[in-house]
Amino acid sequence: MTTASSYVFPHRHLLGIEGLSPSEITGLLDLSETYVEQNRQVDKKQSLLRGRTQINLFFESSTRTRTSFELAGKRLGADVINMSVAVSAIKKGETLIDTAMTLNAMHPDVLVVRHPDSGAVNLLAQKVGCAVINAGDGCHEHPTQALLDALTIRRRKGRIARLTVAICGDILHSRVARSNIHLLNAMGARVRLIAPPTLLPDSAERLGVEVFHDMRKGLEDCDIVMMLRLQTERMQGSFVPSVREYFHFYGLDADKLSAAKPDALVMHPGPMNRGVEIDSELADDIDRSLIREQVEMGVAVRMACLDILTQQFANTVGG
Ligand code: CP
Repeated sequence: MTTASSYVFPHRHLLGIEGLSPSEITGLLDLSETYVEQNRQVDKKQSLLRGRTQINLFFESSTRTRTSFELAGKRLGADVINMSVAVSAIKKGETLIDTAMTLNAMHPDVLVVRHPDSGAVNLLAQKVGCAVINAGDGCHEHPTQALLDALTIRRRKGRIARLTVAICGDILHSRVARSNIHLLNAMGARVRLIAPPTLLPDSAERLGVEVFHDMRKGLEDCDIVMMLRLQTERMQGSFVPSVREYFHFYGLDADKLSAAKPDALVMHPGPMNRGVEIDSELADDIDRSLIREQVEMGVAVRMACLDILTQQFANTVGG
């Protein structure tokens, strides 16, 4: 059984998947497995992080990530503080760095940060003395989402290597897509991106993926289909002619899914827009959809990340 004490994670922070080795990713997934079992027990609480302080600092809205980080910290016995940006001094003009330095002076052990600007969490990590976990920064990375997606896939398919995984929709604005591309490539999966040209980054092929603009062609022989939301909050101008037309060409329904392997499974990081990127019935189909399982795995993965980073931090700086 993998425990934090038997696994060396040679990073002080978790800022992204890029740069993590396959063995580091596997170690995090193995440790997460132990927490899946713990979370299914009646008594879910441990005292591993007793006396440790976790501050969740979210500058963007979140349901899944914020709640699961809070649950994860509490189940490990940490004191968890949720900073509400809406009623913080940020509203009075305080900068991100000054806020981080202020929180740092209270000696937290881990900061969990979501921010709308790519790179903001990396910058913050350079200014504080504790471990920092990126809970999503702009269009850059969302590492714990990719880890929970990987855990979900590995549990259902038994492996990640050699699977064909299609990531479909608004790739351009998606930190989930970026983290998943890094992770899936590192673990030996074949990655396809399916999107209209307006929703793909320039030179997407350089990411080590195959690119398709036709959904049916892109889905042929896929094992996993990951759908993404249109991230209108990051769009300036119009990227699709209409939602109706977008669903017609790029929305996943049973008909388009029939182009994939007969046992292909559907994923979505949430929040989901039913009838825009995914058909409502398919999203709820327990034989094809892993969406609820992804949410469950999110708590376990975040427990593993908090466990490994807070213990690593204690080992490297003595507390
Ligand atoms: N998948 C995800 O990051 O969801 P939230 O925005 O609800 O945290």
